[in-house]
Amino acid sequence: MKYINEILIVDDEQMNIDAITLMLKNKEINITSANNGFQALDLIKQQNFDVIISDVRMPGMSGLELLKKVREISLKPEFIVITAYSKISDAVAAVKNGAFDYIEKPFSRDALEVTLEKVNREKALKAENILLKEKFHDKYKFENIIGKNQEIQNIFEIIKVISKTTATVLIQGKSGTGKEMIANAIHTHSNRANNNFVKLNCAALPENLVESELFGYEKGAFTGANKTHIGKFEYANHGTILLDEISELRFDLQAKLLRFLQEKEFTRVGGNTPIKVDVRVITTTNKDLEQLVAENKFREDLFYRLNVVKIQLPNLNDRKNDIPLLTYHFIDKYSKKYNKNIKNISLEGMKLLEKHNWNGNVRELENTIEQAVLFCDKEVISSRYLRLENYNFLSAQNNIFDSDITIAELEKRKILKTLKKYMGNKTKAAEILGITTRTLRNKLKTYSQQIQDED
Ligand SMILES: Nc1ncnc2c1ncn2[C@@H]1O[C@H](COP(=O)(O)OP(=O)(O)OP(=O)(O)O)[C@@H](O)[C@H]1O
Ligand SMILES: [Mg+2]
Repeated sequence: MKYINEILIVDDEQMNIDAITLMLKNKEINITSANNGFQALDLIKQQNFDVIISDVRMPGMSGLELLKKVREISLKPEFIVITAYSKISDAVAAVKNGAFDYIEKPFSRDALEVTLEKVNREKALKAENILLKEKFHDKYKFENIIGKNQEIQNIFEIIKVISKTTATVLIQGKSGTGKEMIANAIHTHSNRANNNFVKLNCAALPENLVESELFGYEKGAFTGANKTHIGKFEYANHGTILLDEISELRFDLQAKLLRFLQEKEFTRVGGNTPIKVDVRVITTTNKDLEQLVAENKFREDLFYRLNVVKIQLPNLNDRKNDIPLLTYHFIDKYSKKYNKNIKNISLEGMKLLEKHNWNGNVRELENTIEQAVLFCDKEVISSRYLRLENYNFLSAQNNIFDSDITIAELEKRKILKTLKKYMGNKTKAAEILGITTRTLRNKLKTYSQQIQDED
């Protein structure tokens, strides 16, 4: 057992210590023993143990108390308790408090070996995780984008090549796959990085406002236009403009955008003077633009102008090999943000994440980990902190107006439903609900707390 070299046995009965020592005789493991918790603690302060095997009921300090004290000193040794069948509740309490497992007395050599084998595997996994963590600093990371999946690696290469050019980029991918991140990376990596990076979501504004937001307007262009207004294109001069959800752009504005891409100039609303600017255009869409072109819902000539460089982001379900890397990245990120000391996730937890169906893509994974970090009070996130059904627990809704329901409950349902609709995009959901993202975050915190309390 490669990861188990030092074991400490704690038992007030020497007979038990001798029995375990005998069982482990030919295993090349160093065994140390203590007859009570105090003696054990002294040893732990001086020496590194991989595993502590402790009796539960001992005079002076119980195994459970010892476990708590050990955890104040070190996270490293795995703790195994031995307990009589009749005292199984002690063992359960120990496991709840962070013991690795328990063994019932009297036990066989086989039972002991099976448990130690499990510890060994867990330790092997942790060692592997540490390796993993070190790895994603260079090759698997570009700006803040994480991924070792081949498609993502190819995208890193594309970004490096195209950043220095002014080529128009179309980023296609489902919600939460990282389109905006890629756009950010392209800008930050370009010669334009010191100039403005301006964003406009074509779907978030009422149609009649998009034009004046993009191109600005002249004084007197319409009622209320009492002074000249500079649009996003002018703000983005020498920089980059990101047009999110380009498929939602009105047909006549598609023509105006096309003209800009061809002539590098436009006119403000209500104006006649052409204005020339130097702007790199990046667009994103979560729809299949080619399909929309085929259905005559998007201008073909504009599509070709936008599609000079195309980046297609894979769904998270199609790049599940990136889940561990992303998970560690988010654990680090939120552990720092919330001032926590969380370093890892349990084997079982990671398996759940790898199995889950991520319709909300990386954003959903990020939200899941953020929530887990927020509520986890240990160094390792176990599966109970992973609220994977978050966006689904509202699916079975019957007519809520007919049932007896409080306003708070109604509000909660509306909020969660909106969040589900936008795949966990808090900014978007808050916008639709007419509240600030901060209020939304606070409400979600309360809901999570409620779930926690129900446990
Ligand atoms: N490869 C990645 N590495 C690290 N974080 C990522 C990655 N991809 C996405 N994210 C994170 O997931 C979240 C969603 O990403 P982003 O906003 O770029 O998605 P999007 O495709 O623009 O989504 P939408 O279509 O809903 O606007 C962000 O918080 C981002 O930080
Ligand atoms: Mg986006």
